[in-house]
Amino acid sequence: MLGKRKDLISKAWEARGKAYAPYSSFAVGAALRAGDGRVFTGCNVENVSFGLTNCAERVAIGSAIAAGAREFSLLAVVSDSDVPVVPCGACRQVLAEFAPSLEIISATKAGATREWNLAQLLPSPREGILE
Ligand code: THU
Repeated sequence: MLGKRKDLISKAWEARGKAYAPYSSFAVGAALRAGDGRVFTGCNVENVSFGLTNCAERVAIGSAIAAGAREFSLLAVVSDSDVPVVPCGACRQVLAEFAPSLEIISATKAGATREWNLAQLLPSPREGILE
């Protein structure tokens, strides 16, 4: 695997260490590389009112937008699951707002990886909306 991808994955693991997941015990980390090379990380943040949980991916992109980043090249997601986590529908839509063709790599602790382009996971994210 290329060094840049490895670096991003290791930043996602670092972020996963901060996950607040007392209800699911399923910790997720994310690292998002911006067009200018900056990396923004996120972890899942759960809530006793379960529906208010924020996924690691949305935390990462929120942090990036708040820091002024608008373009993104690669997202890494990590978890300790049997198969690599696929970003949920809500995260796909939020990511597509800024990077509809974002490259995504997901890795497990055991080293399994999967890659997608966001357009594969979420075609037509804005068709017919507000138009
Ligand atoms: N979760 C993420 O943070 N990212 C994903 O891509 C999948 C799910 C979190 C949400 C919740 O805290 C826990 O994993 C179980 O769904």
